[in-house]
Amino acid sequence: MAEPQAIYLHDYQPPAYRLERTELTFDLNEKATRVRARLHLQRHPEAEAQAPLVLWGCELGLERIAIDGQPLLESEYRIEGETLTVERVPERFLLDTEVVIEPAANTALEGLYVSGPIFCTQCEPEGFRRITWYPDRPDVLAPFTTTVIGDRDREPVLLSNGNPVERGELPGNRHFVSWQDPHPKPAYLFALVAGKLDCVRDSFTTASGREVALELWVEEENLHKTEWAMASLKRAMRWDEQSYGREYDLDLFMIVAVNDFNMGAMENKGLNIFNSAAVLANPQTTTDAAFQRIEGIVAHEYFHNWSGNRVTCRDWFQLALKEGFTVFRDQTFSADTNSAPVKRIEDVALLRTLQFAEDAGPTAHPVRPDHFIEISNFYTLTIYEKGAEIVRMLRNLIGAETFRRGSDRYFERFDGQAVRVEDFVDVMAEVSGLDLGLFMRWYSQAGTPQLDCRGEYDEAGQRFTLTVRQHTPPTPGQPDKLPLHIPLRMGLLGDDGTPLTLSVDGETPGTDTVLHLTEAEQQWTFEGIERAPVPSLLRGFSAPVRLDYPWSRDELAHLMRFDEDGFNRWDATQRLALTAIEEMMTAHAAGETMHLDARLIDAFRYLLNQPADDRAVLAEMLRLPSEAWIAEQQSQVDVDAIHAARRAAIEQLADSLYADFERVYHANQSTAGYAPTPEQIAARSLKNIALSYLTASGEPETLAMAKAQFEADDNMTDVRAALTLLAHSDRADLGDPAIRAFGERWSHDALVMDQWFATQVTRPQPDALERVRFLMQHPAFSIKNPNRVRALIGTFTRDNRVNFHRRDGAGYRLLADVVIELNRLNPEIAARMIAPLTRFRRFDEARAALMRGELERIRAEKLSRNLHEVVEKALA
Ligand code: ARG
Ligand code: ZN
Repeated sequence: MAEPQAIYLHDYQPPAYRLERTELTFDLNEKATRVRARLHLQRHPEAEAQAPLVLWGCELGLERIAIDGQPLLESEYRIEGETLTVERVPERFLLDTEVVIEPAANTALEGLYVSGPIFCTQCEPEGFRRITWYPDRPDVLAPFTTTVIGDRDREPVLLSNGNPVERGELPGNRHFVSWQDPHPKPAYLFALVAGKLDCVRDSFTTASGREVALELWVEEENLHKTEWAMASLKRAMRWDEQSYGREYDLDLFMIVAVNDFNMGAMENKGLNIFNSAAVLANPQTTTDAAFQRIEGIVAHEYFHNWSGNRVTCRDWFQLALKEGFTVFRDQTFSADTNSAPVKRIEDVALLRTLQFAEDAGPTAHPVRPDHFIEISNFYTLTIYEKGAEIVRMLRNLIGAETFRRGSDRYFERFDGQAVRVEDFVDVMAEVSGLDLGLFMRWYSQAGTPQLDCRGEYDEAGQRFTLTVRQHTPPTPGQPDKLPLHIPLRMGLLGDDGTPLTLSVDGETPGTDTVLHLTEAEQQWTFEGIERAPVPSLLRGFSAPVRLDYPWSRDELAHLMRFDEDGFNRWDATQRLALTAIEEMMTAHAAGETMHLDARLIDAFRYLLNQPADDRAVLAEMLRLPSEAWIAEQQSQVDVDAIHAARRAAIEQLADSLYADFERVYHANQSTAGYAPTPEQIAARSLKNIALSYLTASGEPETLAMAKAQFEADDNMTDVRAALTLLAHSDRADLGDPAIRAFGERWSHDALVMDQWFATQVTRPQPDALERVRFLMQHPAFSIKNPNRVRALIGTFTRDNRVNFHRRDGAGYRLLADVVIELNRLNPEIAARMIAPLTRFRRFDEARAALMRGELERIRAEKLSRNLHEVVEKALA
């Protein structure tokens, strides 16, 4: 078989044929679904008269192909790989095809497949070609009419995009519904759902007074988990009207929950399809974090209706055009709806652990890649999260109001079109009058920029000089990097904590300013500074960079107390904790006792005794840097030292501050009934972090407190926090019964069982890996279901670093075994799961060799295009 070929951005050619209309008929059957496609095509005025027609298809049983009613002879078309070419076609014609596909055999979950008894689709990015022969590219748009035929008993509900226009009965206990979507759309936004589903209905009146019917379709047993998503949807709809002036544009908006889904959800026009884990919520089964995640994803998919659907991408290299912008929109929505500083902290923590790691590894790619082998591999943290950071920088650069004028103009100018990243940035340049030429490098250059900052205080001259150097390390295919336009928000703090007034040339003096770094090295001087200040840099995380400054620990403690910027107060606490933990790691390596710096204990004591004005942020400040973030600081990762030092730091904080944690635990007990409100979430978060410190003290009564909280069974947030502490303790007599009780109680609920899996496989004890193998045999586990795989294998490899990186290589073997099996079943998930193995260069020689060995073992298989691309990059 030929090696999979890369596709290049610079090879882009506009489509030669446009679609006026697409008419589809599905005759559903698990084993053999018949798809008839009537495509009304027309040559593009600028295309050559001889231009061949090229369609894409994959694993289709072609039964008939005709042009204007004339069946094509086999000599009149050519199928090569995934394309079908017809050399000579009229200028305007009807292409009529019929294919047979097998949804029940579709384990890749792309195209039309079955999830339990439900038929559903996933077409982004290139799933539609598994449904029928089609110009499956995002720059070919058409209004769709879709007729779905199904069995009256097995598929009473038949859904597709747009509005239902006709329904009726057919012989043989069959029936049909026809749907019409008037908005031209690319095939990736097509959706079909059929099966026995129940509906929760609501409605929304748009700002201009139109009534929109809202429908949430779920399997019957999930009806009690729909309220939150519906409420979230309505909040999102209102927010998009208020913040972006965007109204919904059809009379009906539907969401469907399915159990088998590769990603979180999909923004199909008028018919969003969701992974059930990203939509179903209930206080008894769902944690606060999941409630918030669901709210964010419901909003994200809804927001795509404008940023993605009405204005879509010209080609898949532009994926961040819709994803970066839409993630930014959902982040802002969540910040407005909940605790804004905590939302920022969470987003940054995710970005700078996982996205920074991706950007430093073998699969690093620009936010707009210039080539790919398999586009499904590019639904990454870089495209989504770094893409959102770029949009955030843009808005901060030009100001919120100008940005809004820009987005209005963008939506107006490009409505109904498939466009590029440049089109978005150009509009922003236009409305602001700023030159964003240099800024565009953020889209083309991969890797995380490193800022090295130095401060110099000149006492005699009463001035403070800040020198900033930027440098981006090489990434695969991009050895030499150029300077970027980096907005650096900063301030200076006096020694009593007061913010100092900064007079920067040409700006009105204030205590906060944005420095524009555009060269490899720049210097700024602040005059009239009477005593040595403490600089607060990169406030609000104003750019997705790593920043170094030689702060002393006392200076970090000072920032933690006094910085005006909430984000930097958190960040200073993280930096302080990091230096203390790193010191303990050094002691660990030298075989010495690990002592936690008293300054961190003092800092925590201070935090715990502050008036609790922002409990949500306080809880975040009390969380030590994650093992993943500590690892990011090391040139060679020492997983054992990281784990040991972090654990010892937690224990010493617990011992020193036991009474404070105990008080905080009791002071934050909920009195009201559960609600996922920001206030309640903050209190639970603080209470549960306090409890986790308490149990780290080893005092036996603390596990009794956890047991009591577990048994009180008030809500999943508290139950899961308590279960985790019990299950991760050395007290099997407490942990095992709790695990058993939880497993029995929730065996009927797959989404709760995922939490049960995740809790067990993150045990720090050395039996964790054996437990993973054991749980893979559990009846609730199935390798075919992506949620199960993520809960059991994904959680283990990501969050149980000491056990995944066991010296005997058993963790690597386990992951490779799973990846090899997934390669046959679900290539997209296989290519995602393998990520931890691809980072082998970050580890010691022995571990790196073991990891590499597993990659070689995988490489020897007959690999899907997805896995081929990732494995070759890793081993390159
Ligand atoms: N556009 C979807 C979203 O971000 C994700 C689709 C991902 N598809 C895929 N095959 N990875 O909401
Ligand atoms: Zn998206």
